[in-house]
Amino acid sequence: MYALIRAYWPEYRHYRGKLLLALVAMLMVAGATAAIAWMMKPLLDEVLIEKNTTLLHLLPLLVILAYLAKGLGGYAQIYAMNHIGQDIVRKVRDRLLAHMLHLDLAFFHRHHSGELISRVTNDITRIQTAVSTSLATLLRETLTALALVGVVIYQSPSLAFVTLVVIPAAYVPVDRLSRRLKRIAHAAQASSAELTSNLAEMFANVEAIKAYHTEAFEARRFADVNRRFFGVSMKAVRTNALVVPVMELFASFSAAAVIYIGGRQVVEGSLSVGAFFSFMAALLMAVDPIRRLSQTYTQFQDAVAAQERIQAMLALAPEVKSGAAELSSVTELALDRVSLAYGEQVALREVSLSARRGEVIALVGASGGGKSSVASLLLRFYDASGGRVSLNGRDIRDYSLASVRNRMAIVTQRVHIFNDSIAANVAYGANIDPERVIAALTKANLWDYVRALPDGIHARLNEAGTNLSGGQRQRIAIARALYREPDVLILDEATSALDNASEAAVLDTLRALAPEVITLIIAHRLKSVEIADRIYLIQDGRVQCQGSKAELMRDCPHFRELYR
Ligand SMILES: Nc1ncnc2c1ncn2[C@@H]1O[C@H](COP(=O)(O)OP(=O)(O)OP(=O)(O)O)[C@@H](O)[C@H]1O
Ligand SMILES: [Mg+2]
Repeated sequence: MYALIRAYWPEYRHYRGKLLLALVAMLMVAGATAAIAWMMKPLLDEVLIEKNTTLLHLLPLLVILAYLAKGLGGYAQIYAMNHIGQDIVRKVRDRLLAHMLHLDLAFFHRHHSGELISRVTNDITRIQTAVSTSLATLLRETLTALALVGVVIYQSPSLAFVTLVVIPAAYVPVDRLSRRLKRIAHAAQASSAELTSNLAEMFANVEAIKAYHTEAFEARRFADVNRRFFGVSMKAVRTNALVVPVMELFASFSAAAVIYIGGRQVVEGSLSVGAFFSFMAALLMAVDPIRRLSQTYTQFQDAVAAQERIQAMLALAPEVKSGAAELSSVTELALDRVSLAYGEQVALREVSLSARRGEVIALVGASGGGKSSVASLLLRFYDASGGRVSLNGRDIRDYSLASVRNRMAIVTQRVHIFNDSIAANVAYGANIDPERVIAALTKANLWDYVRALPDGIHARLNEAGTNLSGGQRQRIAIARALYREPDVLILDEATSALDNASEAAVLDTLRALAPEVITLIIAHRLKSVEIADRIYLIQDGRVQCQGSKAELMRDCPHFRELYR
């Protein structure tokens, strides 16, 4: 818990004014609460017993004033602390997301999107509760409890001694419960992440669920996860619910002792009735802040668990590290006996290939051979586990990641459409220049379609591009790649969903662009690779044959088999 507060302490510096406001407000709450308890004494001793009429008129006013101060203080403090907490958490969320986005692609393959969503939403919310509401409660209730304890001691030091020895004893069992709660909180957060993962996956794959008619199957699977979540949540509830009764039981011990000892002092005449009642009022009023303190303590345990998970994520560093050199243009690329392994799975073994500006090279071969892996290496989604990938003769790892990726454009097997206009999807991330957007769309053979739309290039695409056909989506992706004016253009199955006419148009575009760029085409269809100067046949992670189409037809049995 202290680690949590310490971790966020520096953040509070930016909110000095609001913190001061919160502190003054808390003092008001604590002072007013203690004053209310203290007023019991004059009420009983002066008004009820001595029949003092001046005080009779004054005390009701003071009571109203005290509650007014308590209310105002409470309001101001909740506002100020929540402002601070929400704002701190907003920054942490930004930082966490920016950090996550910079992690390797492998990280995103390892973690389910639902789990990551849960980190950025649920876990952060837990911390927000801790750094705003819970921290405020902690301070305010501590101050209030201290003020009430002050009244208790003031009214009767000897009685106070009895009580204040008993109350701290209650912390031992509460502490034990809290440790247990922390463990359960971890499990509950994991379980809630599992729930989100499951949901994210289902909604992403809803087409398959419908097509395979697996609604009931998925619902059952979800029900299992949901039941586990219920189990963990109930465990937390059971432990949580124990805290208050345990605290109260201990409080009752001290109340019993006070009634017995204090009552005897009043009977003997060593304590006034008013002082005794004020003492009792302060003590009973102290139960509430102490109970709230223990609840806050459990909330903190929740937040500590969340903080540990977030910290673990922030501690992750990308394995693909950016170099220092800036890559201004690419005139030559080469793989020199490059190997690549995804964990255990070896995807490429000693692959060598090269291309110069103006050349078109093609990678062909059976599915799973390793073609897309070559593209991943060029974009540095992964680093080679052996051999060397070089650009302009220099190791690709020397260049900054941003400059490498700036000079390349890839159209992959999976098309990514963002929930924005066509123009924004084509220019993606860069300034939108309508002229160039139209030029890119024309080259991708999609302009005729877009022009006919009522909003033209400003027509909105919905997420996943479900208002486009598969081939249209693919051409948006091609236009996006062309818009970047890259030095290296990688088309990984980029024309697989196109009809013959569109494919021919895109191939014409590629042919026209070819002198200016290095083109890498990955395709299954023979027609797409016909424009290549050199074809590499990749099978089982190795280059089996290489050469022009005619050479491969003549010398490479694998190639003949592929296009028989
Ligand atoms: N992220 C990954 N993690 C683990 N293994 C992977 C990953 N990506 C690819 N692989 C494995 O590496 C091998 C090569 O995959 P790759 O995607 O390069 O094949 P490909 O030639 O592009 O196939 P296709 O023609 O089907 O697209 C496959 O056996 C695949 O299972
Ligand atoms: Mg592939």
